[in-house]
Amino acid sequence: MARRPNRPTTLPEELPFSPQIAPYPIEVEAGRKYFWCSCGLSVTQPWCDGSHAGTAYEPIAIVPQVTGTFYMCGCKKSENKPYCFGNCSQLGYEGMVADG
Ligand code: FES
Repeated sequence: MARRPNRPTTLPEELPFSPQIAPYPIEVEAGRKYFWCSCGLSVTQPWCDGSHAGTAYEPIAIVPQVTGTFYMCGCKKSENKPYCFGNCSQLGYEGMVADG
């Protein structure tokens, strides 16, 4: 099996790997198909680059119904994958905590 050129040569001990403990706010186009990285190894976060090959993980496909900013999960621990569900706040992310 060919190795993706950008894939780390040493895999993290625990998958899914969290490339960041925060969502990726990203512009998406309605009707276009996207593949969200679920393993955390892709270097084109939050999208899949094929680095999951050989792991138990597969990308999650989405086709947005609207054009706009989506908050894609970056910690890979969301209860509503592929979207941020706030689980990152339990991992230390404070950006989504509402003021008093
Ligand atoms: S970044 Fe994963 S739940 Fe927020």
